[in-house]
Amino acid sequence: MQDELGTGPQPLSSALGGNCLACHSAELVLNQPALPKAQWQAEVDKMRTAYKAPIDPKDVDAILDYLVSVKGAK
Ligand code: HEC
Repeated sequence: MQDELGTGPQPLSSALGGNCLACHSAELVLNQPALPKAQWQAEVDKMRTAYKAPIDPKDVDAILDYLVSVKGAK
């Protein structure tokens, strides 16, 4: 899983690290099945609304691009 994180462009994976790893591991995120972008968007929205994740709105695009690049469904 470290390898998978390592394949992302640095600024994108750090957006994920800064916003997503306070509550759970990267493994939890990256062990999901590949999802289309709209579904990743819904996941990130759920983190913000259901779990009150303090995700910086300006990072959301970078987070989604990163997730789709490593775990995107065609
Ligand atoms: C405020 C805490 C918090 C933050 C920040 C957070 N999450 Fe979560 N996340 C949770 C909780 C709680 C769960 C569900 C319980 C568990 O299994 O740990 C979860 C579960 C998930 C899951 C598993 C599927 C699901 O819906 O349960 C994914 C994927 C996920 N998070 C992605 C993200 C991403 C991507 C980010 C950053 C953009 C993020 N999370 C940031 C709290 C958070």
